[in-house]
Amino acid sequence: MLVMAHRGYSGVYPENTMLAFREAASVGCDGVELDVHETKDGQLVVIHDEAVDRTTDGTGFIRDLTFKQLRKLNAAQRFDGKFAPEKIPSFDEFCEWLSGESIFANIEIKTDNTYYPGIEEKTWKTIEKYGVEKQVMFSGFNHFTLRRLQEIVPDYVELGALVEHKSGVQVFPGDYCKASGFQCYHPPIGILNDENVKNCKDNGVKLNVWTVNDMEGLEKLYRWGCEGIITNFPGVAYTWLKGQKKAK
Ligand code: G3P
Ligand code: CA
Repeated sequence: MLVMAHRGYSGVYPENTMLAFREAASVGCDGVELDVHETKDGQLVVIHDEAVDRTTDGTGFIRDLTFKQLRKLNAAQRFDGKFAPEKIPSFDEFCEWLSGESIFANIEIKTDNTYYPGIEEKTWKTIEKYGVEKQVMFSGFNHFTLRRLQEIVPDYVELGALVEHKSGVQVFPGDYCKASGFQCYHPPIGILNDENVKNCKDNGVKLNVWTVNDMEGLEKLYRWGCEGIITNFPGVAYTWLKGQKKAK
């Protein structure tokens, strides 16, 4: 089972910052998960929300702010001085860093509420610019974005269909993903059960499950044979899984 650090090592460090990505790589993980939006002047940036208010000392929607304005903000603001100020990373900066690492990135293009026209092409072009095509996969709640990516990216790049808690328990997610050409299903752990796990297995669809921060969840995913865990505490999961391999 692969360990993906959700928004970097976000259980301890400011989410979606280069600090959180570096620390995730250093504590142990197979990949990092990150969220991508686009600024008013067309720059791709790594941040979760559509607005900067929750995670920085600024205010407003990313679509209404320029890259220069965003870069003045402190993405470690919520930690009250525990960490030195962190900038919102550009997606370029992230890809450049990734090119020097041996881990992969699960890139979530955040088009679920605001659609940024052409963001799928722009994201892929940046990935090509830094030569990290073989180190990425995509996920998204907006499955039209995943369909657009299907037209752009090579077949070896995996696509994961994210669904929310409010989607409820889905009985045939494996059939849906297979029919849609999505290699992976990305549900919250709470909507998984023996039946829908089996449906994914029967269809050859991989399960990358979020956001699992406790041992009970980790062990459950392991027993189900899920392919990936998306967690805020990558080191714990990574070390535990290594122990399981040794015990075999
Ligand atoms: O990849 C799983 C997870 O990132 C989905 O939820 O809200 O953290 O983007 P969210
Ligand atoms: Ca995400």
